[in-house]
Amino acid sequence: MAIQISENGRLFTLHTKNSSYQMFADPFGTLLHLYYGKRTDGENLSDLIFRTDMGFSGNPPEAGSDRTYSLDYLPQELPSSGVGDYRDDCVRIRHADGSCAARFLFDSFQVSKGSYSLPGMPALYDTDAETGETLTITLREACSDVRVQLLYGVFEQADIITRALKVWNGGQTPVDLEKVLSMSMDIPFGDFDMIYFAGRHAMERTAERLPVRRAGVRIGSVRGTSSHQYNPAMILCSPNADEDAGDCYGFCFVYSGNFTASAQQDQRNQTRIQMGIHPDFFSFRLAPGEVFCAPQVILSYSSRGLTALSRSYHRILREHMCRGPWKHARRPVLINNWEATYFDFNREKLLAIASQAAELGIEMLVLDDGWFGKRDDDNSGLGDWFVNTEKLGGTLTDLSEQIHRMGMKFGLWFEPEMVSEDSDLYRAHPDWALTIPGREPNRGRNQLVLNMARPDVRDYLLERLTDILSNAKIDYVKWDMNRSICDIFSSCPGTERTGELYHRYVLGVYELLEGFLARFPHILLEGCSGGGGRFDAAMLYYSPQIWCSDNTDAINRLSIQYGTSFFYPVSAVGAHVSACPNHQTGRSVPFRTRGDVAMAGSFGYELDLNQITDEEKEQVREQINSFRYLYSLIHEGDYYRLTEPGKGDFMAWEFVDENRDHAMLTIVQTESFGNPVPIHTVVKGLDPAKKYRCLMNGAVRSGASWMGAGLTPDRILKQYESLVIEFVRES
Ligand code: DGJ
Repeated sequence: MAIQISENGRLFTLHTKNSSYQMFADPFGTLLHLYYGKRTDGENLSDLIFRTDMGFSGNPPEAGSDRTYSLDYLPQELPSSGVGDYRDDCVRIRHADGSCAARFLFDSFQVSKGSYSLPGMPALYDTDAETGETLTITLREACSDVRVQLLYGVFEQADIITRALKVWNGGQTPVDLEKVLSMSMDIPFGDFDMIYFAGRHAMERTAERLPVRRAGVRIGSVRGTSSHQYNPAMILCSPNADEDAGDCYGFCFVYSGNFTASAQQDQRNQTRIQMGIHPDFFSFRLAPGEVFCAPQVILSYSSRGLTALSRSYHRILREHMCRGPWKHARRPVLINNWEATYFDFNREKLLAIASQAAELGIEMLVLDDGWFGKRDDDNSGLGDWFVNTEKLGGTLTDLSEQIHRMGMKFGLWFEPEMVSEDSDLYRAHPDWALTIPGREPNRGRNQLVLNMARPDVRDYLLERLTDILSNAKIDYVKWDMNRSICDIFSSCPGTERTGELYHRYVLGVYELLEGFLARFPHILLEGCSGGGGRFDAAMLYYSPQIWCSDNTDAINRLSIQYGTSFFYPVSAVGAHVSACPNHQTGRSVPFRTRGDVAMAGSFGYELDLNQITDEEKEQVREQINSFRYLYSLIHEGDYYRLTEPGKGDFMAWEFVDENRDHAMLTIVQTESFGNPVPIHTVVKGLDPAKKYRCLMNGAVRSGASWMGAGLTPDRILKQYESLVIEFVRES
């Protein structure tokens, strides 16, 4: 039983294969958090709550003269707001009289088979392999007609619990929501570190780790997207946790807009963890009878360190978030013309790249930015989604058919959410862009943002996308988004409340994506926002792969892909071999290494293959063959991080297939020294009792021996050289 309820209907225990989560509605109706950790038998753990009279921690009226009952320290699932819990609140309501107090009391619960869905937003869904279960706990606000439903989803076998919530205005007057996070949880005992993934454009998702103390650790975005600067996911782990041991909790936000995520110790050293839509620039008016849904958070617990935690996320996102025919199908090896030509292309150049690519075995040409409107640089044309036949030397229909005749698929770049001021669209509809009357708009990449909350904007975009896609043979779309959002304002009826706009923008993007995929379900969609500025679980619902970073330098990619791997499966990571010296860093790295690094992702090329040597062309053929042969091991196998960026002089990672028959280990030498000493790496994930042949040197040893004694490469690697080593089970 994944959801266990006590006889009196007040103790709730959620069980997954390896974890349990327990809550208790106490006699006053406060929903207390009791436990999240290693699986238990579901015994009542409310004796863990130890009450004392804490000075300056007041008492709610129902406690009467009992000074030990204080909301200020009790571990809660939905903290009260403005009534004596001075820690961060979760749902803040401004009532019609201007007061902001909210005391949430247990009302009822319901258990249902199957996962819950959230209107207009992605959420984990059921599959034949596993159907979730849902616990809904309803709390009523003590002095108003507002109700909150806490939603808990359980995927027992996958070791996943989800949380989300809904706020319902059951009263006769509107209420304003000033903050609605998706979850709050107080872990009563233990010290934790927080691991989060921070960075900047072209250097995303660098893992950082900080101890959580009373000052708290807080990340977030108010850029309108999940952002390059902080990814909407975090890990809380015991200070000694590493890849193989220690308590780890993951929190992954299924949302692509503004978010906040935090962990902070309170006066009793309990850790309050929160995640949700960022309260800055947010308010939402709920008319009588209306419901606001907060997006989903995916939680997982591992008592066996970070690798096991990541594995749970890889599986759940791959199986229960990604959708469509490309979920498991092998993705075509693509060549993208962006770094090969930027805006400077014509039909001849494209065909030259395509024919060389086809000859080497590449399976799809992606035509990036610059094929539409007036778009020879990034200062104009966005919004004018009409084929520039002059630049293309003919129609897109012709070009796409010609590419198909070469034996390749054809893909196309779009940036639907944006508009250039120098565009026919902007000239016709200046009010469609987000600008504040009386203020000169702020530009990013010299472009403005379309108000995606407006139905007329979405209709125009869907019509344009449909027209282009119905008139050419298009197999793939890259959906880009190249600036952060500000100047939030709209006077359009239905979207005129500024505090709602950031969220309505995100819902608008989801609606457009949904409409687009309904019309073109066969399309392989690749998400992108200047690389990984919107690399989040929600986007995986629409695009099973996302361009990981605009930084294609293989050495920088080691840490970007390392950080990405904590939550997101390798199948989601767009990674390409590009030219050297690298356009972002100026670094030169052997062609083989560039291939080996890009192969830890959805593999492709992004350079002019006519400019590379014959020897490199031969390597392209080999890389494509290896990728085809190793595809399911890489995309569906278990992923192991063997090293950490910045520690040691090489990086290594490994894939092991589900049956533990086949493993592939990649090493990249990141530093080199005179008179080098040999390196040594651990090997993970093999069956200790089985024998494996190492294809590097032919040695046959037991899994226990490979994993215990490890492996020393049979040669010294020069700086930036790489080595791929396979292990094949013999018996
Ligand atoms: C940003 C993307 O990340 C690049 O790959 C490329 O598509 C450019 N935009 C085109 O403008």
